[in-house]
Amino acid sequence: MQELVELGARARVCTDCRLSESRTRVVFGVGRHDAQVMMVGEAPGRNEDLQGEPFVGAAGNLLNRLLAEVGMQREDVYIANVLKCRPPNNRDPRPDEIAACKGYLSRQLDLVDPPVVMTLGNFATQLLLRTTTGISRMRGRSYKWWRDKILIPTFHPAAALRGGDRVTDQIREDLALMRSVLDSLDTGKGVEAEPEQLGLF
Ligand code: URA
Repeated sequence: MQELVELGARARVCTDCRLSESRTRVVFGVGRHDAQVMMVGEAPGRNEDLQGEPFVGAAGNLLNRLLAEVGMQREDVYIANVLKCRPPNNRDPRPDEIAACKGYLSRQLDLVDPPVVMTLGNFATQLLLRTTTGISRMRGRSYKWWRDKILIPTFHPAAALRGGDRVTDQIREDLALMRSVLDSLDTGKGVEAEPEQLGLF
């Protein structure tokens, strides 16, 4: 889609915050422009900064494997981060960086317009759902979200690499929930979801 391509081109030369000084490459996003699901992480890490693509390190490999278990491939979804540039040493994103960058994510959501959004980890979940509740309590459910989208929060795959089988199994459950929400939407069935909770915009 031309507009998304142009937005990516704009992001690649963005200097709206200090992260443009330390980044190697801008990590705009990747995937189908008409994806049914958008996955949103926090910010690029070292591998992503070098390659210019989100979730290409160990956490990304795990995400790819878990997607395959629900019959989906990385290419079937759209993957992006809240921040498009790597914070030095993977420090937490700062409020002014989020403010400078969030227009890119909201426009990506607008243009891809997926019916389902999955947030990966605390950071994206708390920002998009405007909550201070931690991911362990937010996950396992779907939420009505912006423009009738369904938002499904899950752990960041890096947390599964640290936290082992229990966290991995919970991500599996959340991906299975995503799959069943997509199936319900396909067959015109209603989707049960928590009341609307809007963040980011
Ligand atoms: N962690 C993220 O949140 N995003 C990436 O792209 C890679 C690691």
